Amino acid sequence: MSDDHTKTITERRNFYGRHRGKTLRASQKTYLEEDLEALRPAGTSQADNPDRHVVDPAGFFADGRPLWLEVGFGGGEHLVHMAARYPEVGIIGCEPYVNGVAMLLGKIRAAGVENLCVHPEDVRALFDILPDACIDKAFLNYPDPWPKARHHRRRFVTPNHLLPLARVMKPGAEFRVATDICDYVRQALEEVPVAGFDLVSQSATPWEDWISTRYEQKAIREGRPQHYLTFRRR
Ligand SMILES: C[S@@+](CC[C@H](N)C(=O)[O-])C[C@H]1O[C@@H](n2cnc3c(N)ncnc32)[C@H](O)[C@@H]1O
Repeated sequence: MSDDHTKTITERRNFYGRHRGKTLRASQKTYLEEDLEALRPAGTSQADNPDRHVVDPAGFFADGRPLWLEVGFGGGEHLVHMAARYPEVGIIGCEPYVNGVAMLLGKIRAAGVENLCVHPEDVRALFDILPDACIDKAFLNYPDPWPKARHHRRRFVTPNHLLPLARVMKPGAEFRVATDICDYVRQALEEVPVAGFDLVSQSATPWEDWISTRYEQKAIREGRPQHYLTFRRR
């Protein structure tokens, strides 16, 4: 492992979001107990990889298929939709909010998709142990807005998230960002290119394969505009 890698792992990190919300339903507890362990990407949990060695993503799915990543999947609508739409791809979803993970597991059972892995933690814990240039596409849908100016450094579109993301993405890989916050667009347009991505498009119309998420539905109900940004790793 390189010194840079070790430095990242030993850095003290704060996660400012929620890990738990309201009490889980009995069915959701069952999904977590019965399904989650088998869905974790091989060699990524603290128990399986306590020294945080770099893993071989070929072990996540049987056949070395293209690997996509969704950061903060919330209730998992987009993640399951993409898995069903692209069965030839393997998608890793990251989400530290256990209620969201439980919702996703229910959707996976209902949809019967098998090309998903679930990392139920901060995506940065996964970045630490992924090799360079292994991700073919990444999604950031309705990231936490952190509206107060003094909290803007907590946003995902800051170097401590974007630089490790850029490291694990293949040259030419697509990075999609959807948000309802104009100031988030401003910060994304400033910071994502500095981290090693080119802006491909900025639109009020979603991607052709998009499915609206819970947070997007909330934004629409509350009258906020949608922004869809596409970047490409240099
Ligand atoms: C506003 S919600 C949006 C959820 C979903 N993408 C949607 O559109 O409905 C943002 C989510 O990102 C998750 N999140 C925030 N920081 C994260 C991180 N560092 N790694 C993984 N997920 C993160 C939060 O737990 C939260 O569930």
